[in-house]
Amino acid sequence: MTLTQRSIGAAGQQVSAIGLGCMPASWGYRLEPQDDATSIATIERALALGVTHLDTAAVYGPEHNERLVGAALRGRREGVLVASKAGLYVDERLTVQRDARPESLVAGCEASLRRLAIDVIDLFYLHRVDPAVPVEESWGALAELVTAGKVRSIGLSECSVDELARAHAIHPVAALQSEMSLWTRDALDGGQLAWCAANGVAFVAFGVLGRGYLTGALPPGVVFPERDFRRTNPRFTPAAMEANRVHVDAVAAVALERGARPSQVLIAWALAQGPQVLAIPGTKRAAYVEEHVAGDGLVLSSADLARLDALPPALGNRYA
Ligand SMILES: NC(=O)c1ccc[n+]([C@@H]2O[C@H](COP(=O)([O-])OP(=O)(O)OC[C@H]3O[C@@H](n4cnc5c(N)ncnc54)[C@H](OP(=O)(O)O)[C@@H]3O)[C@@H](O)[C@H]2O)c1
Repeated sequence: MTLTQRSIGAAGQQVSAIGLGCMPASWGYRLEPQDDATSIATIERALALGVTHLDTAAVYGPEHNERLVGAALRGRREGVLVASKAGLYVDERLTVQRDARPESLVAGCEASLRRLAIDVIDLFYLHRVDPAVPVEESWGALAELVTAGKVRSIGLSECSVDELARAHAIHPVAALQSEMSLWTRDALDGGQLAWCAANGVAFVAFGVLGRGYLTGALPPGVVFPERDFRRTNPRFTPAAMEANRVHVDAVAAVALERGARPSQVLIAWALAQGPQVLAIPGTKRAAYVEEHVAGDGLVLSSADLARLDALPPALGNRYA
Protein backbone atom coordinates (compact mmCIF):
# COMPACT_ATOMS: atom_id res chain seq x y z
CA MET A 1 0.00 0.00 0.00
CA THR A 2 1.46 3.37 -0.98
CA LEU A 3 0.62 6.21 1.32
CA THR A 4 1.14 9.91 0.61
CA GLN A 5 4.89 10.52 0.55
CA ARG A 6 6.96 13.48 1.70
CA SER A 7 10.67 14.15 1.55
CA ILE A 8 13.03 13.95 4.54
CA GLY A 9 16.70 13.51 5.23
CA ALA A 10 19.96 14.37 3.52
CA ALA A 11 19.20 12.38 0.36
CA GLY A 12 15.61 13.61 0.12
CA GLN A 13 14.26 10.16 0.96
CA GLN A 14 10.53 9.81 0.33
CA VAL A 15 8.66 8.44 3.33
CA SER A 16 5.03 8.24 4.37
CA ALA A 17 3.75 11.65 5.46
CA ILE A 18 2.13 9.82 8.36
CA GLY A 19 4.84 8.13 10.39
CA LEU A 20 4.66 6.35 13.72
CA GLY A 21 5.75 7.81 17.03
CA CYS A 22 6.81 4.74 19.00
CA MET A 23 7.23 6.47 22.37
CA PRO A 24 3.85 5.49 23.94
CA ALA A 25 4.97 1.85 23.88
CA SER A 26 7.58 2.64 26.55
CA TRP A 27 7.20 6.09 28.01
CA GLY A 28 4.96 9.01 28.77
CA TYR A 29 1.44 7.63 28.58
CA ARG A 30 0.38 5.00 31.08
CA LEU A 31 -3.41 4.97 31.14
CA GLU A 32 -3.30 1.52 29.58
CA PRO A 33 -0.76 -1.20 30.36
CA GLN A 34 2.25 -1.40 28.06
CA ASP A 35 2.75 -4.81 26.56
CA ASP A 36 5.84 -5.48 24.48
CA ALA A 37 4.36 -8.13 22.20
CA THR A 38 1.39 -5.86 21.42
CA SER A 39 3.67 -2.88 20.84
CA ILE A 40 5.95 -4.81 18.48
CA ALA A 41 2.91 -6.10 16.60
CA THR A 42 1.68 -2.48 16.32
CA ILE A 43 4.94 -1.35 14.72
CA GLU A 44 4.85 -4.34 12.39
CA ARG A 45 1.26 -3.49 11.43
CA ALA A 46 2.32 0.08 10.66
CA LEU A 47 5.09 -1.17 8.37
CA ALA A 48 2.70 -3.58 6.65
CA LEU A 49 0.30 -0.68 6.00
CA GLY A 50 3.02 1.36 4.31
CA VAL A 51 4.22 3.55 7.18
CA THR A 52 7.92 4.05 6.46
CA HIS A 53 8.96 6.53 9.17
CA LEU A 54 9.52 5.24 12.71
CA ASP A 55 10.42 7.66 15.48
CA THR A 56 12.14 6.62 18.71
CA ALA A 57 14.81 7.90 21.12
CA ALA A 58 17.31 6.53 23.60
CA VAL A 59 15.51 8.24 26.48
CA TYR A 60 12.14 6.57 25.82
CA GLY A 61 12.00 3.87 28.43
CA PRO A 62 14.89 4.68 28.82
CA GLU A 63 16.39 2.46 26.10
CA HIS A 64 13.39 0.12 26.06
CA ASN A 65 11.72 1.79 23.05
CA GLU A 66 14.71 1.40 20.75
CA ARG A 67 14.80 -2.32 21.58
CA LEU A 68 11.14 -2.69 20.63
CA VAL A 69 11.73 -0.88 17.36
CA GLY A 70 14.75 -3.08 16.71
CA ALA A 71 12.66 -6.20 17.29
CA ALA A 72 9.92 -5.00 14.93
CA LEU A 73 12.46 -4.10 12.23
CA ARG A 74 13.98 -7.57 12.08
CA GLY A 75 13.62 -8.66 8.44
CA ARG A 76 11.71 -5.47 7.56
CA ARG A 77 14.41 -2.81 7.57
CA GLU A 78 14.45 -1.99 3.86
CA GLY A 79 12.77 1.25 2.82
CA VAL A 80 12.11 2.34 6.41
CA LEU A 81 13.44 5.61 7.77
CA VAL A 82 14.54 4.94 11.34
CA ALA A 83 14.87 8.09 13.41
CA SER A 84 16.35 8.17 16.90
CA LYS A 85 17.72 10.80 19.26
CA ALA A 86 20.51 11.40 21.74
CA GLY A 87 21.33 14.10 24.26
CA LEU A 88 18.89 13.31 27.08
CA TYR A 89 19.16 10.83 29.94
CA VAL A 90 17.18 9.88 33.03
CA ASP A 91 18.92 10.48 36.35
CA GLU A 92 18.55 8.49 39.59
CA ARG A 93 15.57 10.67 40.60
CA LEU A 94 13.87 9.68 37.33
CA THR A 95 14.23 13.23 36.04
CA VAL A 96 15.15 13.86 32.41
CA GLN A 97 18.48 15.71 32.08
CA ARG A 98 20.44 17.07 29.13
CA ASP A 99 23.89 15.91 28.11
CA ALA A 100 24.92 16.89 24.60
CA ARG A 101 28.67 16.75 25.04
CA PRO A 102 30.30 15.33 21.90
CA GLU A 103 31.60 12.22 23.67
CA SER A 104 28.14 11.47 25.08
CA LEU A 105 26.49 11.82 21.67
CA VAL A 106 29.04 9.53 20.02
CA ALA A 107 28.67 6.90 22.74
CA GLY A 108 24.89 7.34 22.56
CA CYS A 109 24.88 6.65 18.84
CA GLU A 110 26.82 3.39 19.28
CA ALA A 111 24.41 2.30 22.01
CA SER A 112 21.37 3.20 19.88
CA LEU A 113 22.75 1.22 16.94
CA ARG A 114 23.18 -1.81 19.21
CA ARG A 115 19.69 -1.56 20.66
CA LEU A 116 18.08 -0.99 17.27
CA ALA A 117 20.20 -3.84 15.88
CA ILE A 118 20.88 -1.94 12.65
CA ASP A 119 24.16 -0.74 11.14
CA VAL A 120 23.13 2.82 10.30
CA ILE A 121 20.52 5.22 11.71
CA ASP A 122 18.75 7.15 8.92
CA LEU A 123 18.04 10.28 10.95
CA PHE A 124 19.73 11.03 14.25
CA TYR A 125 18.48 14.00 16.26
CA LEU A 126 20.01 16.13 18.95
CA HIS A 127 17.07 15.63 21.31
CA ARG A 128 17.65 18.96 23.06
CA VAL A 129 20.33 21.61 22.84
CA ASP A 130 22.31 21.46 26.09
CA PRO A 131 22.78 24.95 27.59
CA ALA A 132 26.16 23.79 28.92
CA VAL A 133 27.45 22.89 25.44
CA PRO A 134 27.52 25.26 22.42
CA VAL A 135 25.26 23.86 19.72
CA GLU A 136 28.22 23.96 17.32
CA GLU A 137 30.07 21.39 19.46
CA SER A 138 27.14 18.99 19.72
CA TRP A 139 26.31 19.41 16.04
CA GLY A 140 29.93 18.93 15.00
CA ALA A 141 29.95 15.56 16.77
CA LEU A 142 26.77 14.52 14.95
CA ALA A 143 28.28 15.65 11.62
CA GLU A 144 31.27 13.39 12.31
CA LEU A 145 28.88 10.48 12.83
CA VAL A 146 27.59 11.13 9.29
CA THR A 147 31.17 11.10 7.95
CA ALA A 148 31.83 7.87 9.84
CA GLY A 149 28.76 6.26 8.20
CA LYS A 150 27.01 5.63 11.51
CA VAL A 151 24.07 7.89 10.65
CA ARG A 152 22.73 9.11 7.29
CA SER A 153 21.45 12.52 8.28
CA ILE A 154 21.02 14.64 11.38
CA GLY A 155 18.35 16.81 12.90
CA LEU A 156 17.47 18.95 15.90
CA SER A 157 14.49 18.93 18.21
CA GLU A 158 12.70 21.82 19.92
CA CYS A 159 15.31 24.48 19.25
CA SER A 160 15.30 28.13 18.22
CA VAL A 161 15.76 29.57 14.73
CA ASP A 162 19.14 30.90 15.82
CA GLU A 163 20.28 27.41 16.85
CA LEU A 164 18.98 25.97 13.59
CA ALA A 165 20.93 28.52 11.57
CA ARG A 166 24.14 27.98 13.57
CA ALA A 167 23.91 24.23 13.07
CA HIS A 168 23.00 24.51 9.38
CA ALA A 169 26.12 26.60 8.73
CA ILE A 170 28.26 23.63 9.85
CA HIS A 171 26.34 20.70 8.37
CA PRO A 172 22.90 20.58 6.68
CA VAL A 173 19.98 20.16 9.06
CA ALA A 174 17.87 17.35 7.58
CA ALA A 175 14.91 17.81 9.90
CA LEU A 176 13.58 19.75 12.85
CA GLN A 177 11.29 17.77 15.15
CA SER A 178 9.04 19.90 17.33
CA GLU A 179 5.60 19.83 18.87
CA MET A 180 3.00 21.30 16.55
CA SER A 181 -0.72 20.85 16.79
CA LEU A 182 -3.95 22.72 16.95
CA TRP A 183 -3.20 23.81 20.51
CA THR A 184 0.60 24.16 20.24
CA ARG A 185 1.57 26.78 17.70
CA ASP A 186 5.02 27.68 19.01
CA ALA A 187 6.79 26.61 15.81
CA LEU A 188 4.45 28.77 13.73
CA ASP A 189 4.81 31.78 16.00
CA GLY A 190 8.54 31.30 16.69
CA GLY A 191 9.53 31.10 13.02
CA GLN A 192 10.89 27.52 13.06
CA LEU A 193 8.33 26.23 10.56
CA ALA A 194 9.03 29.14 8.20
CA TRP A 195 12.78 28.62 8.58
CA CYS A 196 12.39 24.97 7.56
CA ALA A 197 10.32 25.98 4.53
CA ALA A 198 12.89 28.56 3.46
CA ASN A 199 15.81 26.16 3.86
CA GLY A 200 14.32 22.98 2.40
CA VAL A 201 14.36 21.27 5.80
CA ALA A 202 11.73 18.75 6.85
CA PHE A 203 9.58 19.66 9.85
CA VAL A 204 8.53 16.59 11.81
CA ALA A 205 5.51 17.44 13.95
CA PHE A 206 5.03 15.57 17.20
CA GLY A 207 2.14 15.78 19.64
CA VAL A 208 -0.30 16.32 16.75
CA LEU A 209 -3.02 14.53 18.74
CA GLY A 210 -2.48 16.78 21.75
CA ARG A 211 -1.05 13.77 23.59
CA GLY A 212 -4.38 12.05 23.11
CA TYR A 213 -6.51 14.88 24.49
CA LEU A 214 -7.54 16.54 21.22
CA THR A 215 -9.02 13.30 19.89
CA GLY A 216 -11.67 13.47 22.62
CA ALA A 217 -10.61 10.05 23.89
CA LEU A 218 -9.72 11.23 27.41
CA PRO A 219 -12.83 11.27 29.61
CA PRO A 220 -13.52 14.30 31.83
CA GLY A 221 -12.12 13.72 35.32
CA VAL A 222 -9.52 11.24 34.09
CA VAL A 223 -6.84 10.54 36.71
CA PHE A 224 -3.42 9.96 35.20
CA PRO A 225 -1.29 7.28 36.84
CA GLU A 226 2.20 7.74 38.30
CA ARG A 227 4.83 8.40 35.63
CA ASP A 228 2.23 9.46 33.07
CA PHE A 229 3.60 12.68 31.54
CA ARG A 230 0.17 14.29 31.76
CA ARG A 231 -0.17 13.79 35.54
CA THR A 232 1.87 16.91 36.33
CA ASN A 233 1.43 18.76 33.05
CA PRO A 234 -0.32 22.17 33.28
CA ARG A 235 -2.40 21.43 30.20
CA PHE A 236 -3.94 18.39 31.84
CA THR A 237 -5.22 19.87 35.10
CA PRO A 238 -9.00 19.50 35.39
CA ALA A 239 -9.42 23.26 34.88
CA ALA A 240 -7.25 23.31 31.75
CA MET A 241 -8.95 20.25 30.30
CA GLU A 242 -12.30 21.90 30.87
CA ALA A 243 -11.20 25.19 29.29
CA ASN A 244 -9.56 23.45 26.33
CA ARG A 245 -12.64 21.37 25.59
CA VAL A 246 -13.44 24.00 22.94
CA HIS A 247 -10.58 22.55 20.85
CA VAL A 248 -11.88 19.00 21.20
CA ASP A 249 -15.38 20.08 20.24
CA ALA A 250 -14.19 21.96 17.15
CA VAL A 251 -12.16 19.00 15.93
CA ALA A 252 -15.11 16.68 16.54
CA ALA A 253 -17.41 19.00 14.58
CA VAL A 254 -15.06 19.12 11.57
CA ALA A 255 -14.61 15.36 11.78
CA LEU A 256 -18.37 14.81 11.78
CA GLU A 257 -18.87 17.02 8.73
CA ARG A 258 -16.03 15.28 6.92
CA GLY A 259 -17.06 11.73 7.85
CA ALA A 260 -13.60 11.43 9.38
CA ARG A 261 -12.17 10.57 12.78
CA PRO A 262 -10.85 13.38 15.03
CA SER A 263 -7.32 11.92 14.81
CA GLN A 264 -7.49 12.12 11.02
CA VAL A 265 -8.53 15.78 11.15
CA LEU A 266 -5.68 16.57 13.55
CA ILE A 267 -3.11 14.87 11.32
CA ALA A 268 -4.53 16.59 8.22
CA TRP A 269 -4.33 19.96 10.02
CA ALA A 270 -0.62 19.38 10.77
CA LEU A 271 0.17 18.29 7.21
CA ALA A 272 -1.69 21.34 5.87
CA GLN A 273 0.86 23.64 7.55
CA GLY A 274 3.30 23.12 4.66
CA PRO A 275 4.66 20.58 2.18
CA GLN A 276 7.76 20.17 4.36
CA VAL A 277 5.71 18.88 7.31
CA LEU A 278 5.56 15.21 8.31
CA ALA A 279 3.48 13.90 11.20
CA ILE A 280 4.39 11.20 13.70
CA PRO A 281 1.23 10.43 15.69
CA GLY A 282 2.22 8.30 18.65
CA THR A 283 0.55 5.08 19.66
CA LYS A 284 1.11 1.57 20.93
CA ARG A 285 -2.18 0.30 19.47
CA ALA A 286 -2.65 -1.20 16.00
CA ALA A 287 -6.26 0.02 15.83
CA TYR A 288 -5.07 3.63 16.15
CA VAL A 289 -2.40 3.11 13.48
CA GLU A 290 -5.08 1.72 11.17
CA GLU A 291 -7.27 4.75 11.88
CA HIS A 292 -4.46 7.19 11.10
CA VAL A 293 -3.50 5.43 7.88
CA ALA A 294 -7.15 5.26 6.80
CA GLY A 295 -7.16 9.06 6.92
CA ASP A 296 -4.19 9.34 4.57
CA GLY A 297 -4.91 11.90 1.87
CA LEU A 298 -7.60 13.75 3.85
CA VAL A 299 -7.34 17.41 2.83
CA LEU A 300 -9.14 20.00 4.93
CA SER A 301 -10.92 22.84 3.16
CA SER A 302 -9.83 26.42 3.70
CA ALA A 303 -13.08 26.89 5.68
CA ASP A 304 -12.15 23.94 7.93
CA LEU A 305 -8.66 25.35 8.46
CA ALA A 306 -9.98 28.85 9.17
CA ARG A 307 -12.41 27.47 11.73
CA LEU A 308 -9.68 25.48 13.49
CA ASP A 309 -7.15 28.31 13.31
CA ALA A 310 -9.63 30.71 14.93
CA LEU A 311 -9.63 28.70 18.17
CA PRO A 312 -8.31 30.56 21.24
CA PRO A 313 -4.85 29.75 22.64
CA ALA A 314 -4.85 26.70 24.90
CA LEU A 315 -4.88 27.14 28.66
CA GLY A 316 -1.79 25.75 30.41
CA ASN A 317 1.86 25.56 29.44
CA ARG A 318 2.77 22.55 27.33
CA TYR A 319 5.63 21.62 29.67
CA ALA A 320 5.64 21.81 33.48
N1 LIG B 1 11.25 15.41 20.11
C1 LIG B 1 10.61 15.42 21.26
O1 LIG B 1 11.00 16.10 22.21
C2 LIG B 1 9.39 14.57 21.41
C3 LIG B 1 8.56 14.72 22.53
C4 LIG B 1 7.43 13.91 22.62
C5 LIG B 1 7.16 12.97 21.64
N2 LIG B 1 8.00 12.83 20.56
C6 LIG B 1 7.75 11.83 19.51
O2 LIG B 1 6.55 12.18 18.87
C7 LIG B 1 5.64 11.07 18.88
C8 LIG B 1 4.22 11.59 18.94
O3 LIG B 1 3.98 12.41 20.05
P1 LIG B 1 3.23 11.90 21.31
O4 LIG B 1 3.11 10.42 21.23
O5 LIG B 1 3.90 12.47 22.47
O6 LIG B 1 1.80 12.60 21.25
P2 LIG B 1 0.50 12.40 20.34
O7 LIG B 1 0.81 11.71 19.09
O8 LIG B 1 -0.15 13.73 20.28
O9 LIG B 1 -0.44 11.50 21.30
C9 LIG B 1 -0.15 10.21 21.68
C10 LIG B 1 -1.27 9.74 22.59
O10 LIG B 1 -2.49 9.75 21.85
C11 LIG B 1 -3.12 8.48 21.94
N3 LIG B 1 -3.69 8.19 20.63
C12 LIG B 1 -3.02 7.86 19.49
N4 LIG B 1 -3.86 7.70 18.47
C13 LIG B 1 -5.10 7.92 18.94
C14 LIG B 1 -6.38 7.90 18.34
N5 LIG B 1 -6.54 7.64 17.05
N6 LIG B 1 -7.46 8.16 19.13
C15 LIG B 1 -7.31 8.45 20.45
N7 LIG B 1 -6.11 8.48 21.07
C16 LIG B 1 -5.01 8.23 20.31
C17 LIG B 1 -2.05 7.50 22.30
O11 LIG B 1 -2.63 6.45 23.01
P3 LIG B 1 -1.89 5.06 23.34
O12 LIG B 1 -0.78 5.45 24.27
O13 LIG B 1 -2.95 4.27 24.00
O14 LIG B 1 -1.41 4.49 22.08
C18 LIG B 1 -1.09 8.34 23.13
O15 LIG B 1 -1.48 8.33 24.48
C19 LIG B 1 6.08 10.27 20.11
O16 LIG B 1 5.62 8.95 20.02
C20 LIG B 1 7.59 10.41 20.02
O17 LIG B 1 8.10 9.48 19.08
C21 LIG B 1 9.10 13.63 20.45
